[in-house]
Amino acid sequence: MNSPTKQRYRVKFPPSTAHDLDQDEVYFHIIEEGGREVKIRFHDYDQIFLRPGLYEQLFYDRLKCTSPTKVGELLERSLATVREPITALRVLDLGAGNGMMGEVLKERHGVARLVGADIIPEARDAAFRDRPDVYDEYFVADFCALQSGDQERLEEWSFDCLTSVAALGFGDIPPRAFFNSLQLVKSGGWVAFNIKESFFNHSDQTGFSKFIRELIFSEYLDVYHIERYRHRLSMEGAPLFYFALVGQKTATIPADFLEMVGLSD
Ligand SMILES: C[S@@+](CC[C@H](N)C(=O)[O-])C[C@H]1O[C@@H](n2cnc3c(N)ncnc32)[C@H](O)[C@@H]1O
Repeated sequence: MNSPTKQRYRVKFPPSTAHDLDQDEVYFHIIEEGGREVKIRFHDYDQIFLRPGLYEQLFYDRLKCTSPTKVGELLERSLATVREPITALRVLDLGAGNGMMGEVLKERHGVARLVGADIIPEARDAAFRDRPDVYDEYFVADFCALQSGDQERLEEWSFDCLTSVAALGFGDIPPRAFFNSLQLVKSGGWVAFNIKESFFNHSDQTGFSKFIRELIFSEYLDVYHIERYRHRLSMEGAPLFYFALVGQKTATIPADFLEMVGLSD
């Protein structure tokens, strides 16, 4: 994958005692010119995306993230089983960030239309700055409560695929936002995402886990592929395992599906 810039940052990871933090609380420092140390949490995406190349240096070069490649490959393989060309897809990439998944979909797989979406403007700005030819359009919106104008513009794209990589759960995209995005995909369309392995564990009673488990065993999704793989390394160098999942939406999901499975906002 291309790094948008040759700029490199002096990144300093904290001592190991700071490591019993949740994945969204993990932090590092960068040493800026003049020696100033700036503390940044992994989930301070606004701060990370403001610095061209920092996201790639941290998550892809140093922590060896493989997820866009993995999810893209499994999507193509699933489509091949039903002899549909991946190139014809019209994809909504939710939690698109600065475009790592978008780059794979566009450059490696050649999808026909690609629309990014994220909740922070810094993500869209970084995507257009670093990968200007990847997304046809990019929405900055809260998909939990889409404005009617955004809803209409999104519907005009007639999506037949939703992707979401390294963005579901964990203080990132909540069930309602993922659900609303899924509803933008027509019946017979595809969904491809990854999720932390514990989300499939019945002892995990968080809203997102419940939603995903209910969805994949429901009549609204035919699962084509689930694979456990190494998403990336932790700061300690330990493998972090995720599941990549590809499915085909079989029908419009009832508007009260979340309530039916015991989730309310
Ligand atoms: C780890 S980045 C993943 C970026 C990209 N998909 C990739 O694979 O590199 C997670 C992204 O999800 C976005 N995000 C977090 N919560 C969100 C929400 N509720 N709706 C949309 N995007 C969200 C963040 O702003 C961030 O850009």
